Amino acid sequence: MTPHYSVLLPEILNFAKLIPGVDDPGAEKIILVDGTLGDAGHSTALAQLHPGALILGLDQDPEMLGRAQTFIELKNIPHKRISAQKEEINSLKEFSGIAGMLCPFGKLAGLLKSAGMEAHFILLDLGVSQHHFLTAGRGFSFQDDSLDMRMDPELPVDAAEILNTFEAETLEGIFRELGEERFAGRIARLIVKHRPIQSSRQLATIVRQALPGRPSSQDRPRTSIHPATRIFQALRIYVNRELEELDTALEGLPGCLTAGGLLAVISFHSLEDRRVKQTFQRIGEKEKKKSPEKAYRIRPESGLEFTILTPHPLTASDREIYENPASRSAKLRVLQKKHRK
Ligand SMILES: C[S@@+](CC[C@H](N)C(=O)[O-])C[C@H]1O[C@@H](n2cnc3c(N)ncnc32)[C@H](O)[C@@H]1O
Repeated sequence: MTPHYSVLLPEILNFAKLIPGVDDPGAEKIILVDGTLGDAGHSTALAQLHPGALILGLDQDPEMLGRAQTFIELKNIPHKRISAQKEEINSLKEFSGIAGMLCPFGKLAGLLKSAGMEAHFILLDLGVSQHHFLTAGRGFSFQDDSLDMRMDPELPVDAAEILNTFEAETLEGIFRELGEERFAGRIARLIVKHRPIQSSRQLATIVRQALPGRPSSQDRPRTSIHPATRIFQALRIYVNRELEELDTALEGLPGCLTAGGLLAVISFHSLEDRRVKQTFQRIGEKEKKKSPEKAYRIRPESGLEFTILTPHPLTASDREIYENPASRSAKLRVLQKKHRK
């Protein structure tokens, strides 16, 4: 098994070096949180950087937690109600290493607060893993016989139910809003006409048929991107309530940082990045640079509790994009809670 290629890894590690108290032997225990454990690539590198730290690794997909265990030594926090997980987390305060937990990151702030814990570093690397696309039977790829797309198998609605039961207008709205698909109406109507839709392969074929002209026409210039990408993205976001989860996390997580602690979010499309950017701009001020020509506008006496360390999002280098084309759309934004005066 080949692990997932961890996006923007050197950049994440550079920010993780800013964690307060790492060089102070008398400092409190370092607590790092990876809200999207996946194949644990980021977590493993963070554990190497800060060997004495507790790393809480969350994933909402039980299959991914099982996979992570094949790459790293993972202390398992049993899947229980949040109130019981809180007890488990409390018992980890002396543990150093990675502890894996089945939990959506939207519940993370509540969990940390109820355990009375503040984090020095929180990472969200959004979306699905390459493993989801490469695995048959999950419905994430264009070639699959299945049509599920749930990361958490207990989520109430899967992609097949949406495609086979929702009104054409509702499907159109989902494709337009979450996929930013220009031909949403045409695609929705053709889906309804071809019901029942039973596989992601069938869905990809219908989308192709619904698009005007040949892939090389002016409407849809030839690119290496599959023509059904936007529709698959929209369905996946809807099924997994990805934007609601992100909103909840962005609302609660800044309040879970210790003084000097950092929140790093890697997003892969504009719907996510806009949310991260707007939240950071609402609660943080841009970092003060010493040289006047590089000075960012600071809200004077803003009283804001956070600093935005990335006035512009960081993106993958040409080399990283060459090695892992999926990194081309990644954007990293980082927020830091101010140090105590
Ligand atoms: C892009 S991968 C993370 C890869 C990881 N950073 C690494 O280096 O291997 C995203 C992971 O987050 C999980 N995930 C997505 N949304 C989640 C959520 N709301 N809560 C918890 N896990 C989530 C997915 O199941 C997937 O395993």
